[in-house]
Amino acid sequence: MAEFIRPIRKEDVPQIAEIEKLCFAMPWSEESIRKDVEENVVACWLVLDDGAGSVLAYAAMWFVLDEAHVCNVAVHPDHRGKGYGKAIFGALVDTAKKNSMSLMELEVRRSNTVAQNLYHSFGFIDVGYRKRYYEDNKEDALLMFKEFHYEDEAEETQNAEDA
Ligand SMILES: CC(C)(COP(=O)(O)OP(=O)(O)OC[C@H]1O[C@@H](n2cnc3c(N)ncnc32)[C@H](O)[C@@H]1OP(=O)(O)O)[C@@H](O)C(=O)NCCC(=O)NCCS
Repeated sequence: MAEFIRPIRKEDVPQIAEIEKLCFAMPWSEESIRKDVEENVVACWLVLDDGAGSVLAYAAMWFVLDEAHVCNVAVHPDHRGKGYGKAIFGALVDTAKKNSMSLMELEVRRSNTVAQNLYHSFGFIDVGYRKRYYEDNKEDALLMFKEFHYEDEAEETQNAEDA
């Protein structure tokens, strides 16, 4: 069965809450995910479906004016290293662009080099640290962001068409 990326559905929420517990020291509760999905008009959640309704990965962001704040990215621990992180995060970046965001920003644990590598591969840059940001172990957060320059891309497309 072929995997595909789609917007979240209400019935995904319990699965996502389970994956949260496997992935994070401070997981979102099922209730907080449900509330965000159903009530937060600026929230955008995407899931990577295995083709039979099981969630393999998910990512979420909030659109705040013209900035997309990434609030969650995770791949089920049994399915890491297969390109799903790249696929779901790439879809999130594309969605931010389709919604004309001027930048995306996120926080990631200082020790989480795997996620940082993923974000760097999409052109995110390190901005600075928020000291002792995470409640559980007082770890610093690295703030990263990526700006979008639509004029440059339009120019590149035009040049490619002219060539
Ligand atoms: C971060 C995470 C989403 C990556 O997902 P994944 O499906 O394993 O990643 P992919 O297979 O798509 O790999 C994407 C990139 O991540 C980086 N990466 C993945 N596994 C890595 C590893 N073991 N070591 C170093 N970098 C790694 C690489 O840059 C890789 O790109 P490359 O293959 O071109 O080198 C996943 O590890 C995860 O869910 N971690 C726990 C939750 C988490 O930390 N989320 C981020 C919160 S800010």
